[in-house]
Amino acid sequence: MPDIVKPYSVDLDLSIGTLRSFNKKVEVKLSELREFFFNREAADNIIKKHNDPAVYVYFENSHPHMRGEMNFGVTILSPGKVGCEYNMTRGHYHSRRRGEVYVGLRGEGIVVMQTKDGMFFHSPIRRGKVVYVPPSWAHRTVNTCDRKLSFFYAYASDAGHDYGTIRRKGFAKLVVEKCGKPKIIDNPRFTR
Ligand code: F6R
Ligand code: ZN
Repeated sequence: MPDIVKPYSVDLDLSIGTLRSFNKKVEVKLSELREFFFNREAADNIIKKHNDPAVYVYFENSHPHMRGEMNFGVTILSPGKVGCEYNMTRGHYHSRRRGEVYVGLRGEGIVVMQTKDGMFFHSPIRRGKVVYVPPSWAHRTVNTCDRKLSFFYAYASDAGHDYGTIRRKGFAKLVVEKCGKPKIIDNPRFTR
């Protein structure tokens, strides 16, 4: 990849919520997410029964990890649950103090955010909703509907992704289905 990125434009298909061109595609399967879900036995059963399904995929225009550059893309999160927890992304902190913007394109869900000193926030995400993730806030997206959830995102290329902290400590809250509706509850396993 060249060190100097020239201006360019790409098409975002707003009707189906996908990006028409990208230089990086990442598919995340349930086996890679197992530790992030509360009910790991339920995850193992789905992995066995459905041959380790992909839970989400993201298509990105990724640039050199240099101050000032930005990466942007679209994440598509499949519907479904592991136990009573809705399908979700791993979630991460940015390693550097860098924020991010999400724009909902299709489906409905919740973005959960937290800081290392104990603050928590959640926002709905759906078509037309813009979610601002400030620096130092971990962020995870949860698909609470029965269709695909997709959203556009943009963040600084040198942000870096810290998955280890969430893998070890979890998120303070879980988004679960209760009586057919999404509910945000305390995560009994969360450690600060
Ligand atoms: C990038 C970002 C999103 C997520 C994507 C997958 O900083 O926040 O593009 O990377 O939605 O989620 P993770 O990276 O948590 O697996
Ligand atoms: Zn991020």
